[in-house]
Amino acid sequence: MSHHHGHHATSDPHVHRDAHDDVPEGLPDLLDLDAEVLAEALEAVRTDIGRLVDSPVRSILDLGAGTGTGTFGLLRQFAGAHALAVDSSEEMLERLRRRAEQLGLRDRVSTLRADLDDSVPDIQPVDLAWASASLHHLVDPDRTLAGLVAAIRPGGLLAVVELSGFPRFVPVDTPGGAAEARAHALLAADRAVDMPTMGSDWGRRLTRLGLVVERDRPIVVDLMRPSAPVVGEYAAASLTRIRDAVADRLEPTDREELEALLDGGRSDVRRRGDLRVTTDRRLWIARRPAASTT
Ligand SMILES: C[S@@+](CC[C@H](N)C(=O)[O-])C[C@H]1O[C@@H](n2cnc3c(N)ncnc32)[C@H](O)[C@@H]1O
Repeated sequence: MSHHHGHHATSDPHVHRDAHDDVPEGLPDLLDLDAEVLAEALEAVRTDIGRLVDSPVRSILDLGAGTGTGTFGLLRQFAGAHALAVDSSEEMLERLRRRAEQLGLRDRVSTLRADLDDSVPDIQPVDLAWASASLHHLVDPDRTLAGLVAAIRPGGLLAVVELSGFPRFVPVDTPGGAAEARAHALLAADRAVDMPTMGSDWGRRLTRLGLVVERDRPIVVDLMRPSAPVVGEYAAASLTRIRDAVADRLEPTDREELEALLDGGRSDVRRRGDLRVTTDRRLWIARRPAASTT
């Protein structure tokens, strides 16, 4: 039951795996922090979707739902809707169901464990499909997307949020900044090999499938000197994963500098006031054309 490519280098940030599941250690927490830090940006994304829907959204399909950031945001936005959250990880789905319970949304969410590398679930076509930070995990996303078209009703929408890199936290000219930059460069080189579709032009892929891209815009997140503690936690969780992935290939001085961002000392990202969070994400909203009568 591997949803990854099966050829991860030991340098991959996904090396720390639980025995019972294939979720990288710490990823569920990181996804929840991600949701908090990006809350405003994601709300704007949902507003964009709301402007494009052609009728009330009743059914939502969340592909690679993770801990449910997309599912719950969309259920809030579209009050009459039911969501099917699909993920290959039972651990993620368990957490999503618990959260649904807490939010009083349990009766509006179903979960399905499925590997999207195998096929898209055979379901009644939905009004809205959502895939956030999941497509780049797929071995052959074009094949999966081709299968997805039938799961969207004519006139329905597919919203894709993708990233071209991991978030950045430390200004490059401050302590640890250059080390973080070099760690990112190593990671980007890894991703170019094991997740080659990350950062690619998803709009072109959607268009090739006959979908009509109606919205294509960057999702700008640039938080200067954020004061909310959650941002420091997010930075620490994110940098820990990056460090674990590349530490063995960093110069010793870089490794020490990176360590100092996480060791609780003066340069720790949870303590310093000069963080700057930037992420490189993009939104595409595409429509499945209504059946033509000509
Ligand atoms: C980076 S997380 C994003 C989660 C969520 N969409 C979000 O925006 O927070 C990627 C998710 O895709 C799931 N995933 C990766 N490969 C998959 C596959 N082949 N089939 C189904 N889910 C997959 C992972 O288990 C993980 O939950």
